Amino acid sequence: MTGQVFIKSYGCQMNVYDAGRMADALAPSGYSRCESADGADVVVLNTCHVREKAAEKVFSELGRLRARHRGRRKRPVVVVAGCVAQAEGDEILRRAPWVDVVVGPQAYHRLPGLIARARAGGGAAVDTDFPVQSKFDFLPEEARPPGPSAFLTVQEGCDKFCGFCVVPYTRGAESSRPVADVLAEARRLVAAGAREIVLLGQNVNAYHGAAPGGGEAGLAELIRAVAGLGAVARIRYTTSHPTDMDAALIAAHAELPELMPHLHLPVQSGSDAVLAAMGRRHGAGDYLRLVERLRAARPDIALSSDFIVGYPGETDRDFEATLALVREVGYAQAYSFKYSPRPGTPAASRADRIGEAEKADRLAALQALLGRQQRAFNRRAVGRRLPVLFDRRGRRPGQLAGRTPWQQAVHVDCGAAAGRLFGEIAEVEIAEAHANSLAGALHRDPVRRKGAASSAAALDG
Ligand code: SAH
Ligand code: SF4
Ligand code: F3S
Repeated sequence: MTGQVFIKSYGCQMNVYDAGRMADALAPSGYSRCESADGADVVVLNTCHVREKAAEKVFSELGRLRARHRGRRKRPVVVVAGCVAQAEGDEILRRAPWVDVVVGPQAYHRLPGLIARARAGGGAAVDTDFPVQSKFDFLPEEARPPGPSAFLTVQEGCDKFCGFCVVPYTRGAESSRPVADVLAEARRLVAAGAREIVLLGQNVNAYHGAAPGGGEAGLAELIRAVAGLGAVARIRYTTSHPTDMDAALIAAHAELPELMPHLHLPVQSGSDAVLAAMGRRHGAGDYLRLVERLRAARPDIALSSDFIVGYPGETDRDFEATLALVREVGYAQAYSFKYSPRPGTPAASRADRIGEAEKADRLAALQALLGRQQRAFNRRAVGRRLPVLFDRRGRRPGQLAGRTPWQQAVHVDCGAAAGRLFGEIAEVEIAEAHANSLAGALHRDPVRRKGAASSAAALDG
């Protein structure tokens, strides 16, 4: 059976990666990916369960899909994938009985069979198993060329069970892909045009994959192996847990020019009491010392983080401690959220919930501080010459968008050179800083001939 598949992803980067792998899984059955639900034969909603708002989106989207196809002769096969599928399974079919397939993240290799059955009129199917053998052993190779920056999942799942978080339940136990598999995929991505590889995992620095020579490799070893391919200009990894930042990984930041000087290191709170209640396994002081070690290894490293405000029991003093930690660290960028009680997590059953108004006030105060830090960080780039990997086309003709080593978005009018520079690392004179991006102009000799990976030159420039 052939046709067009539309995949809409919510949530984290891993869902973006998974969307690609679902498309790869469907390609041998003759499906190609399309950009709209209209006219699609299969619509996949690749969902996120992390906060209530994210999880509820799937039901409003399902409602819209149904309304759009009501009365039409042909309607697409509707698939709910991702973390809501895993967490809610049969509940989805109860609330939205027109859904054809519910499939959890560990069962994507079985998607072609599930869809074929639905198209043959086999009735709705739910597959939320955690199979013993990894889906990576069954998924076909990537069918579509990656962009200049490509995600590569190296680790999935989480064993940390933070009090607020559904990920250990939706993604299952922590597991790592063998080094050889990761390297093979990295080689294919680079051969197909990727310049940057972003190693993904829900707890990526807990990576412990089978090493080629026997035994296990940690994330630092894996990064060294990817850098050793010699063809990857930039390497990043996300998301890390503070307690898994080992000495080898910190040393990698000092030693590997390919490893970009930007790290997403969620801390959630600056209060020891809240961190303990969350089960984060570290205090604020541990985090600050870790930041110091990272900065000693790589002085220009930019940090980003996630924060939760209004965790059950969070006092004004606890919240002040979060603001104090933010002032002390100085973030380049951050995400912050109001605590959202999630079914099945320990924190959800606590009686000492914080009121919505209080949460909103705290979030606004935190976001104001983080926003000031981000703008200050971006302003420091103005007047500098920075290497930018152009990985997206801009809205205007001739405009390209890319990223600095510190993960800032940059917009540049490249004129006639745009076609040639897409996918390249080019030198950009930064002229303007905005809240969420930079703008600049190409240096007169934009493409560096050798060692485009390093951002060290940018520091002198
Ligand atoms: N593995 C990552 C985070 C995964 S979830 C880590 O360990 O940090 C991404 C972010 O969503 C979290 O860092 C947290 O800030 C936020 N988040 C997770 N559960 C949440 C909840 N119940 N309410 C509000 N924010 C939440
Ligand atoms: Fe969730 Fe991250 Fe904690 Fe794991 S380490 S439970 S993914 S917040
Ligand atoms: Fe959301 Fe699942 Fe990612 S809950 S954040 S899509 S791991």
